[in-house]
Amino acid sequence: MPLSQNKITVVGAGYVGMTTAAKCAERNLASEICLIDVMPGRAAGLALDLNQAAAIEGYGSVVFGSEDPGHTEGSDLFIVTAGKPRTPGMSRSDLLEVNGRVMESVAETIRRGSPDAIVIVVTNPLDIMVSLMRSKLGFPSKRVVGMAGVLDSARFSWFIAEGTGTSVLDVDAMVLGAHGDSMVPMPEACTVNGIQLANLADRASIEAMADRTRHGGAEIVNLLKTGSAFYAPAAASVAMAASILRDEKRLLPCSCLLNGQYGFEGVYTGVPAVLGAQGVERIVELPLDTESRIQMQKTVGAIEKDIDALRDLGLL
Ligand code: 2OP
Repeated sequence: MPLSQNKITVVGAGYVGMTTAAKCAERNLASEICLIDVMPGRAAGLALDLNQAAAIEGYGSVVFGSEDPGHTEGSDLFIVTAGKPRTPGMSRSDLLEVNGRVMESVAETIRRGSPDAIVIVVTNPLDIMVSLMRSKLGFPSKRVVGMAGVLDSARFSWFIAEGTGTSVLDVDAMVLGAHGDSMVPMPEACTVNGIQLANLADRASIEAMADRTRHGGAEIVNLLKTGSAFYAPAAASVAMAASILRDEKRLLPCSCLLNGQYGFEGVYTGVPAVLGAQGVERIVELPLDTESRIQMQKTVGAIEKDIDALRDLGLL
């Protein structure tokens, strides 16, 4: 792919952030990639390493790393990964306060130096952090979107491929709702090369695949013990970034602010959306059966409970 003349900032150079920066560079997604981390030397060291990989990988993106948020000025797109990851036994909601404070300060940096940017939030608890980010930025909601549906759907795709003995390349899967235990896998919207999942697996196996998807992040946290997943979260974030920066108009599930769609108002949750140069260009409504409708109500209820907790903490 030819080099895009853009500036991307990745905030947070933990495993997700550094992998995201590398994938952006390898896809030539921006002429300048700015990597920011509060730990002295970390972002600068990773940037040097990535620039030294350019001759081997053949990319033209130049990576700049710093702990000074001033360097993010003039960015077209932010991918916000800063904050603490989960450790075994923690739910994503346990990170509300600590990561909420991080969002506040990142929002201030973005608002001041890059008022026209589009922002993809990756930090957990995802739907709450993207909601907080939007409210602190005051940007139109089409320019503030959360990553999670792409990741959860990719996890579902993998479990479907494994469970049906087919190639993951032929699987199309969809997960709606919160990025948490209440997420809503949509088996009726899943196909393997156009063939409905129900023709390839029985109900119990499909429910097992959906359940493993709901706990897909925790399964990895429990195995790693000291952190959470990063390859798939980074791949998902970069797919969204590419669709925006290259105006690909991919239809991807992501956390968007609902304005009446699916019967909800003023809440961020995972829904299919068209991502293009304007950000979230269109939210697509799927027909839901009674069971999925009930699950969507539960997932939105869980998000609203965390939003209330954020208010009690004085963050919103
Ligand atoms: C996960 O599900 C990082 O929340 C992320 O792995």
